[in-house]
Amino acid sequence: MAILEIKEYGEPVLREKALPVKEITPEILNLIKDMAETMYTASGVGLAALQVGVPKRIILVDGEEDGLIVLINPVIIKSEGEVVAEEGCLSVPDIYSQVMRSSKVTIKALNENGDPIEITKEDLIARALQHEIDHLDGILFVDRIGRMERQILLNKLKKKK
Ligand code: NI
Repeated sequence: MAILEIKEYGEPVLREKALPVKEITPEILNLIKDMAETMYTASGVGLAALQVGVPKRIILVDGEEDGLIVLINPVIIKSEGEVVAEEGCLSVPDIYSQVMRSSKVTIKALNENGDPIEITKEDLIARALQHEIDHLDGILFVDRIGRMERQILLNKLKKKK
């Protein structure tokens, strides 16, 4: 296992559209293991493959008591409710903002064995799943907040660099 470098805001790979995984090869399984180690080492609650520079549709979310959730080619098939809460991202360090998300989502995906699965999650896990699925299309949480607030946050980010 290995800890991978997490790409940060401004790196072009974060804006790519990730491609579907066609076959779950040993390389993909290794990538997932490394992503899990990277995520937990960074104390993150979710990680998308694009964040470690791999443009494939793979996300990991810490499912709390359910353990690690690994989704390959995930698609949101149902969403309900709206809730605003604070969000951050390992690729946008030390920046947090209130973001509106669905309160409950149902997602279809493949698991690590290549089996089709469907999961329904609420609250924080639903939020993390939506955040990670956004990453697969090159969308960051700062894209989902008002233009003024985004500018303030990004200036803060620039100053720190
Ligand atoms: Ni993120």
